[in-house]
Amino acid sequence: MEKKLQDLKKTFMSEMDNVKDSQFLADLKKKYLGRKGELTGILKEVKDMASEEKPRVGKLANEIKEELTEVFNKTEKIIKNKGDQAIDFDPTMPGTKRQTGHLHPSTIVQQEVEDAFVSMGFSVYDGPQLESDYYNFTALNIPEEHPARDSHDTFWLEQNWLLRTHTSNLQVRMLEKHGAPFRGIFPGRCFRYESTDASHDHTFFQLEGLMIDKGINIGNLIATMKSLLSAVFNTDVDVRLRPGFFPFVEPGFEMDIKCLVCEGKGCSVCKQSGWVELMPCGMVHPEVLKAGGVDPNEYSGFAFGLGLTRLVMMKYRIDDIRLLESGDLRFLKQF
Ligand code: PHE
Repeated sequence: MEKKLQDLKKTFMSEMDNVKDSQFLADLKKKYLGRKGELTGILKEVKDMASEEKPRVGKLANEIKEELTEVFNKTEKIIKNKGDQAIDFDPTMPGTKRQTGHLHPSTIVQQEVEDAFVSMGFSVYDGPQLESDYYNFTALNIPEEHPARDSHDTFWLEQNWLLRTHTSNLQVRMLEKHGAPFRGIFPGRCFRYESTDASHDHTFFQLEGLMIDKGINIGNLIATMKSLLSAVFNTDVDVRLRPGFFPFVEPGFEMDIKCLVCEGKGCSVCKQSGWVELMPCGMVHPEVLKAGGVDPNEYSGFAFGLGLTRLVMMKYRIDDIRLLESGDLRFLKQF
């Protein structure tokens, strides 16, 4: 008899585990606890038992009845409160966190810079990374045999095609297409055949800017650069302007910012100098305007080649450029 009671409890409990709705629950009540139910049947049998066993078995039977009733009432309450579907749902269980993707740090900074320029009336353009010798060099006043080509370690492809070494490849393309006046930025990947170290990688991002109109001068260039830097860093950063030579600008400058990775003390990113070359720039050379079909007697303008990857490193204090294109999730998940 005792075994019968224990077995009954077991099957009741496992059936309770599968309760999905109130109808199912009502059927279970009838089956076990109803007037003709299994447990009620056993309790009746207990009445007719020999007297020495009766108290022990009777006690057990009553305990089991109480237990089953309690489980039943609890389940009934849950179903009533939360609706039939709720029975499988435990709101106290910790959730499972889904993996979501996010933007690459270079993209985050690129979008910030784009926003800053768009608010100054610039449009954002894209262009080819696989480029001809002409747009990457010749049209920019860098003819064949010009020593300036040496400073760009180039991935040459067949038949004078190459991977663009800078976003300046779009300067003449844009002038040909849009003419003057023009105000645009062109962010994108650039490639150089370099040996890599903490501050050089074969793939990096630049953001080129080009503004052409009547009467544009160096004052406009400097004012634009300053607005940009304060928009990106949200704080004053130390900058310095040095003369710089690029065949496609005259005069040309290098705008450096004080290294934010080491606060100017010297580190691998700034090659121990405390300063990082961030923005080569200058007034567009008349030969470049001519190549783009714009009359240099009528129009002038400035161009700059913001080192977007360097900017990302400064902003997030990343001390090795190679991390950015590594695809290493341990690094990327930090952004
Ligand atoms: N394209 C040049 C470079 O990558 C930088 C530059 C852009 C300089 C625009 C002047 C004006 O070295």
